[in-house]
Amino acid sequence: MRTEYFDKKSAGWDSNPIRAEMTRNIAAAIRQAVPLSETMSAIEFGCGTGLISRELLPHLKKIRAIDFSPGMIAKLQHRIEKSGLQNLTACCLDIFTEPPDEQVDLIFSGMVLHHIRDTAALLDALLLRLKPGGFIALADLDTEDGTFHGDFDGFLHHGFDRERLIQELRSRKCGKTAARTAHIVRKNDREYPVFLITAQKIA
Ligand SMILES: C[S@@+](CC[C@H](N)C(=O)[O-])C[C@H]1O[C@@H](n2cnc3c(N)ncnc32)[C@H](O)[C@@H]1O
Repeated sequence: MRTEYFDKKSAGWDSNPIRAEMTRNIAAAIRQAVPLSETMSAIEFGCGTGLISRELLPHLKKIRAIDFSPGMIAKLQHRIEKSGLQNLTACCLDIFTEPPDEQVDLIFSGMVLHHIRDTAALLDALLLRLKPGGFIALADLDTEDGTFHGDFDGFLHHGFDRERLIQELRSRKCGKTAARTAHIVRKNDREYPVFLITAQKIA
C-alpha cells in the first residue's frame, strides 16, 4: 500500500471527533488489559498522528511511534515539538523494509492491521521486536461487510475474526491471550465493533 492516502488524510486526522473517541477508548482498553509501568519501552506500529501513543505516554518510559506516511509523521513531530514531549519519538518507516532494531516491552497498534496485506508476516515482524515476556496489543475491526471504508481504494481486510487472530498469536509462542471490545464505531446506520487482542510473548 502506498502512503498517499494517509498523507492526504493527515491534515484533518486529529479533528475527527469519532476518531478521537475511538483512539481514547483503544488506549483505555490497553491500560485495562496490560500492566503498564514507567519502566516499559514501547513501539506503536502505524501510529498516524500518535493519538493512541499520546494517551499512553504518561504510563510508559518511552514510545517509538512508527508510520510509513510522511504526512502523518510530520503532524506527530510537530505535536512532539509543540508540547515538549521528551519520551515520544516519531519515526517514518515501513516495518517490512526498515524494521526497528530494538526489542521493547510492549508493541501496540490501532486500526492498522486491516491495511496490511500479509498479516502473518506482520505478526512475525512485530514479535521479533518484542522482548520475551513483553506484551502485544492489537486493536482492529471485527469482521465487517465491507461498508466501513467508503472512500478507500487500496487493499483492505474487511475486519478480522478474533479467535483466528488469537490462534495466530498462540502459534507464535504467545500466551495469556485475551480479547475484549474496546470501542464501537457507529456510522452508515451500522455498528462496527473494534476489538483489542492482547497477548504475552512466552519468555
Ligand atoms: C487507519 S490509520 C490508523 C492510525 C492511528 N493508529 C490511529 O488510530 O489514529 C493506519 C496507519 O497505518 C499506517 N501504515 C499502514 N501500513 C504501514 C506500514 N507497512 N508501515 C508503517 N505504517 C503503516 C498508515 O500510514 C496509517 O497512518
